Amino acid sequence: MPHQVHLSAFMLFAPAPHTPLSWLSAPTDVEHQWFEAGYWRAIARTLERGKFDMLFLADSLAGGNTPAQIRYAIQFPCHDPVALVTYLAGVVEKLGLAVTMSTTFYPPFLLARTLATLDHLTAGRIGWNIVSSISSAEARNFGRAELPPHDQRYDLADEYLAACHALWNSWDDDAVVMDVNQKIFADPNKVHRVAFQSEHFQTEGPFTVIPSPRRHPFLFQAGQSERGRAFAARHAEGIFSAARGTHQMRAFSDDIAARLEGGGRDPATVPILWAAQPVVAATEAEARDRFAEIRERIPLEASIAQMSAHWDVDLNGADIDQPVVELQVSGLQGFVDMYVRAQPEITLRDIAGSYMVGSGRSPLIGTPAQVADAMLGMLEEGGGSGFQISPPYHAPAYFNDLVEMLIPELRKRGLYRDDYCGTTLAEHVREGMA
Ligand SMILES: Cc1cc2nc3c(=O)[nH]c(=O)nc-3n(C[C@H](O)[C@H](O)[C@H](O)COP(=O)(O)O)c2cc1C
Repeated sequence: MPHQVHLSAFMLFAPAPHTPLSWLSAPTDVEHQWFEAGYWRAIARTLERGKFDMLFLADSLAGGNTPAQIRYAIQFPCHDPVALVTYLAGVVEKLGLAVTMSTTFYPPFLLARTLATLDHLTAGRIGWNIVSSISSAEARNFGRAELPPHDQRYDLADEYLAACHALWNSWDDDAVVMDVNQKIFADPNKVHRVAFQSEHFQTEGPFTVIPSPRRHPFLFQAGQSERGRAFAARHAEGIFSAARGTHQMRAFSDDIAARLEGGGRDPATVPILWAAQPVVAATEAEARDRFAEIRERIPLEASIAQMSAHWDVDLNGADIDQPVVELQVSGLQGFVDMYVRAQPEITLRDIAGSYMVGSGRSPLIGTPAQVADAMLGMLEEGGGSGFQISPPYHAPAYFNDLVEMLIPELRKRGLYRDDYCGTTLAEHVREGMA
């Protein structure tokens, strides 16, 4: 059991972050729309009040590729999360801010510079969700026909990370002198040309950002495949995963621990957060009703559109009563495997019934006390240090509900912070770990 339960808000800069049609649940007199600064200001302040570790922003560099995705706002439109965290850096003082950026589309110098700058502006609260992108539509937006093949994307990302670290580490700790009398800003002998050269990436330097508080953003990764886990064990400082049931959680966390140890790293320093969507209300019946409402507002066609976007296959017109086990997907293969491992005969229709919203049998639907106990039980059985929570209804109201109802229950059990102990994102996510 962890000494502390960690919570992070998992969002997309979009009308319905992950649950299809959650935009329908916005009150009609809503003060700010999802695309306005005020909406995010409210969310970030609520999360900080609730002492969440961070706001974690997913991203996709394409969308709206089918009529259903446009009609229902399935992961589309999607605004730029880097601009959003830059804005939020000045809105909240303690909350961590993690942002998804793709190694396939941002040149390493540009990404390293942006994130090092944000590490300064947030005083060490910035995180990077390292992704290599999942859809061919993203490739087409950048003038390429296809993404590189799955494993090759990770090989490229290995090289990419080496380039970023070379840039981030190219100034000596004491390079910045700022000696007013001698008129020396920085010691030229301590600012090094990078001259990085790998098979696919070259960057010369010197790096144009002074060393930031941690030198680099806190590094998250969410690969589920064999190659993805190998990458995570090498590079990630924090891991994000999705699992169905504590059996799958345990298998994943044990596997990651073995890989980390194999690479000489201590698993107790690498937090794992699980995707979750708790629904709490004053009574269990109310929570179940609320869940039923969420479920009922999602037409089958919208769930299928969401799966198509995630899996990078057009499922429109597919036979949804066939087992999915045979389906070849190039996108989030790990998600498909997760369902098939739990239920080998599962069909597209079965998956659509709970995709990105959970099933009615989820232990995370109930009173705050029930959900707090269920969360702790899941971590005890499955391992990991906490949850990445995406809102199934209007996000400002949803996170407020969690802060008002769920967090006091976690605190009562002595497993949730009263206040932040540290100031950086690394300190937040590692608090209470060995
Ligand atoms: C819970 C979760 C969240 C993810 N969020 C994003 C995201 O925001 N953007 C993205 O391009 N990929 C995202 N991914 C995809 C992963 O970064 C990775 O590319 C994908 O899982 C394919 O790698 P794999 O085959 O190793 O699982 C996410 C994956 C998971 C499991």
